[in-house]
Amino acid sequence: MTTSKAPSHAYVWSWLAGQSEPIPTGVLEAIPTPGGGHVITFAYGRSYLSTSNAIPIYLPELPLRRGRIEPAPDLDVAGAIRDGGPDAWGQRVILRQLGSSGRDADPSDVPLLDYLLRSGSDRPGSLDFQVSPSTYVPRLHNTSIEDLQRAADAIQDGTELDASLAEALTAGSSVGGARPKATLTDGSRHLIAKFSSPTDPYPVIKAEAAAMKLAEIVGLNVASTELIQVSGRDVLCVERFDRGAGGTRRGFVSALTILGLNELGGRHATYHDLADVVRQRFVGRTQSLKELFSRIVFNIVVGNTDDHARNHAAFWDGERLELTPAYDICPQARIGGEQFQAMAIAPDGARSSQFATCIGAAHHYELSESNARAIIDRQVRLVTEHWDEVADRVGLSGAERRGLWGHQILNPYATYGYGPSTH
Ligand SMILES: Nc1ncnc2c1ncn2[C@@H]1O[C@H](COP(=O)(O)OP(=O)(O)O)[C@@H](O)[C@H]1O
Ligand SMILES: [Mg+2]
Repeated sequence: MTTSKAPSHAYVWSWLAGQSEPIPTGVLEAIPTPGGGHVITFAYGRSYLSTSNAIPIYLPELPLRRGRIEPAPDLDVAGAIRDGGPDAWGQRVILRQLGSSGRDADPSDVPLLDYLLRSGSDRPGSLDFQVSPSTYVPRLHNTSIEDLQRAADAIQDGTELDASLAEALTAGSSVGGARPKATLTDGSRHLIAKFSSPTDPYPVIKAEAAAMKLAEIVGLNVASTELIQVSGRDVLCVERFDRGAGGTRRGFVSALTILGLNELGGRHATYHDLADVVRQRFVGRTQSLKELFSRIVFNIVVGNTDDHARNHAAFWDGERLELTPAYDICPQARIGGEQFQAMAIAPDGARSSQFATCIGAAHHYELSESNARAIIDRQVRLVTEHWDEVADRVGLSGAERRGLWGHQILNPYATYGYGPSTH
């Protein structure tokens, strides 16, 4: 597949805290590398540098100073910029809009700056990308959720797609992740709508809705969700935590960026390294470590093994980091008992989806064994007590809940080796 001439520049605009309009912030430039690829450099604009309340997009990778800043050696673009770009789903939508049928498309055919400039402006965090440093033209849509769902279906099954719908879906697909989704607003509410897929092997959206509700019940700080029916199908509406009143936006970075890793290096991301950064750079260190530990435990309780470094994030205010509410907690398909979390829990690399692994690592999260046990036991008790009520609420059938319970949710494997305390 070919695209028109790739852009060599893109301008970054950003929303400073409390502001309802973005200001020009700097320029991204694609620099060819000897290997035939590109790295993307960034330079702050002079006007931004002289703005009194300007903040660095992220530290240490983009310090507030003049001149071009190269990405770290392992990266082809600064992580905080990459976080604002489309991921697997958004790339698929853009490829389709560029004329690919979808199945034969190679996402790497489209250069990153192209993805940044084609994707919608309602992207995660407080950045947007534009062709101009002086005029801001948002790429937004006001398409109904019914039409967005239809368009997402057409992307997935390769059927005919109306050009205006394709454009609306592109405008709504700048948020990351691989599952079909779109951003939309409902009055003053900013939402991410997660659609079901015709190829889902189990009721994924209902399972995610149940897990997010259970997360709330066990007391995690978690994004609010609402399961709705659109043309008879499940859609999970997730309330955005990066949008405030009056058009304000709140910046955040993924754990992948916090850990300084590239996409491939993401498999080396670990919870214990994240805990180290929490210790050094987060507000509310003790509470954040406890929350992180509780999220690991909960992922094990509900069988969410897709807990990779793009599924954790922290707000960035220019100085400090703060855990965002948890999101994308979804029981994953599994065969058999043995299972592993996407990120290692303990410094020795242990990642088995077991409470015993959490107990072994508890001190790293500044928790005593008895406090760690209290967290685990409380979650197991509350999930057990509330399962039926939550399953009713999201409309899981008897067969569907039997399929989840004891398999994805509270699989006995989680409790192996988790005996009574020896103290
Ligand atoms: N509640 C939210 N508020 C703001 N951004 C969010 C929220 N939930 C998810 N995101 C962003 O959208 C991305 C995709 O959402 P996610 O639920 O992870 O989708 P997927 O299931 O496709 O991975 C996340 O990686 C995160 O950057
Ligand atoms: Mg995700």
